[in-house]
Amino acid sequence: MRKTILGAAAVALATAAALAQSSVRDGVYTTTQAERGAALYEAQCLSCHGTLEAFFPEVAALLGDHTFRQRWQGRPLSELFQLIQVEMPQDAPGSLSVDETVQLVAYILEGNNLPSGQTALASDTVALSGIAFDP
Ligand code: HEC
Repeated sequence: MRKTILGAAAVALATAAALAQSSVRDGVYTTTQAERGAALYEAQCLSCHGTLEAFFPEVAALLGDHTFRQRWQGRPLSELFQLIQVEMPQDAPGSLSVDETVQLVAYILEGNNLPSGQTALASDTVALSGIAFDP
C-alpha cells in the first residue's frame, strides 16, 4: 500500500512541478464534488462552523470569512486537506475518508466563491500541494 502511494507520489511530483503555478482560481474542483461536500458539511461540520456564507462570531472557526482566507492565503491546498483529514470533525477526528475530505475542500472552495471546473480535485497531497489557496 505504502509502496504504491510512493510510486504514485513520484509520478504526481512531476505533475505537481508542472502544476506549481496552479491556483484555486483555475477551476480545480467539480460541482459534483462540491455538492457531496455540502451534504457532508451539513451533517458533520455545520454544528460547530455555521454556514459558509453567514457570519457567526460565536463559532470557533469560520471557513468562508476574511480571517479564514487570510490564514490560508498562499498556502497549498494539501495543508487544508491534511488539517481536515487529521483534525476534523473535532468531535471525531480521523473519521473522514480521503474522498470525503477532498469533497469538503471542494465545498469550502465553492463557499469562498472560487470557480469549479472540468477536472476533479485529486485526493492526494502531492497533487494538492501544487495548488495554492490565493482567493
Ligand atoms: C465539535 C466542533 C467541530 C466540528 C464538528 C468540526 N470542527 Fe472544524 N474546527 C473546530 C474548532 C474549535 C476549530 C478551531 C481550532 C482548531 O483548529 O482546532 C476548527 C478548525 C477548523 C479548520 C481550520 C479553520 C481555520 O480558519 O484555519 C477547518 C478547515 C475545519 N475546522 C474544518 C472542519 C470540517 C470540514 C468539519 C466537518 C467535517 C469540521 N471542521 C467539523 C471545531 C469543529
